[in-house]
Amino acid sequence: MSIRVAVVGAGYWGPNLIRNFNQIPTCDMAVCCDLDERRLKHIKSLYPHIQVTTNFDDVVADKSIDAVAVCTHVSAHYPLAKKALEAGKHVLVEKPFTAKVDEAEELVELSKKNGCIVMVDHTFEYTAGVNKMKEIIENGLLGDVLYVHCARLNLGIFQRDINVVWDLAPHDLSVILYATGLKPKSIRTIGMRLMHPKVEDVAIVTLNCGSASAVIHVSWVDPLKVRRVSVVGTRQMLVYDDLDPMAKIQIYDKGVEKPPHYDTFGEFLCSYRYGDIHLPRLQESEPLSVMCKHFLECIENGTSPRSDGESGLRMVRLLEASDRSIAQNGAEVPVSL
Ligand SMILES: NC(=O)c1ccc[n+]([C@@H]2O[C@H](COP(=O)([O-])OP(=O)(O)OC[C@H]3O[C@@H](n4cnc5c(N)ncnc54)[C@H](O)[C@@H]3O)[C@@H](O)[C@H]2O)c1
Repeated sequence: MSIRVAVVGAGYWGPNLIRNFNQIPTCDMAVCCDLDERRLKHIKSLYPHIQVTTNFDDVVADKSIDAVAVCTHVSAHYPLAKKALEAGKHVLVEKPFTAKVDEAEELVELSKKNGCIVMVDHTFEYTAGVNKMKEIIENGLLGDVLYVHCARLNLGIFQRDINVVWDLAPHDLSVILYATGLKPKSIRTIGMRLMHPKVEDVAIVTLNCGSASAVIHVSWVDPLKVRRVSVVGTRQMLVYDDLDPMAKIQIYDKGVEKPPHYDTFGEFLCSYRYGDIHLPRLQESEPLSVMCKHFLECIENGTSPRSDGESGLRMVRLLEASDRSIAQNGAEVPVSL
């Protein structure tokens, strides 16, 4: 039996969810809800079979709807997801899960109480590149992870209700938590307001993960589009370049060897190792399609999603701590995930 899905929010990103759900044979992409009639007209022109409504209460009251995907601006995620869970519907929420930690905690509890799946679209956890990176790190090919550097830069898209960290860093944070196994203990964020007096549009986030550190540079004000994660290990180094069509994952057999013993700085000479570069082949498919299928499979099988509500909650904890750090000019803020 197919799972009947409603998507709420058909602005920039929502149509991607609608297209992917619509292509899955076990899914009945049934309803689209948006406050904006023009967006509904657009969706209707593409998919005449999809019912449209401006009233979310219609979606909640429709007993034939099994699952709701929430794809609105972030502050509306919580009230909409809450209503859907209260009505016994499974819920997929776009990243970041909610605007506040206590909202995320409430949704996780509600999903447990009502026996519904709650999943967050941490899209990168469903990419072939990030899963290859996870496999390589878990197999010990890089040795111990010492350092991660993420750069997610572009010109725009400016958001209304969140700063650049809440908009872009969830992708990098989810890659770090999911693929590298690092566990942040504290966060420091320097936020810059270049274009808007109240919203940070460039930020440098630093995570202290005990024996390793991670730096995330996010920007809406950069001339170049960059989506890159570098992982430096004790044995090898890896670069994940999401924009490289041929070599998304590059493993560099490069490293630095310290001398076994030295007494003075003059004696301290590192030796550098330059080896081969390996480009593993990836079995690529559209990450959003993999993510949508996973959501439906979890509903069918009653299993917990890879990016479940708990992982959405961890993300919101980090983002709230980042805001506290920005407010204190980059002070170190402890995080407990
Ligand atoms: N996973 C990704 O890679 C990715 C990429 C882009 C955006 N996103 C996320 O997708 C979400 C939406 O982003 P966007 O850029 O599409 O925003 P958007 O502003 O372009 O679209 C949001 C839509 O939601 C509608 N809406 C708002 N409140 C509503 C309500 N109460 N009921 C019905 N409709 C309502 C608006 O009318 C609008 O059409 C955000 O959470 C964003 O972080 C995820």
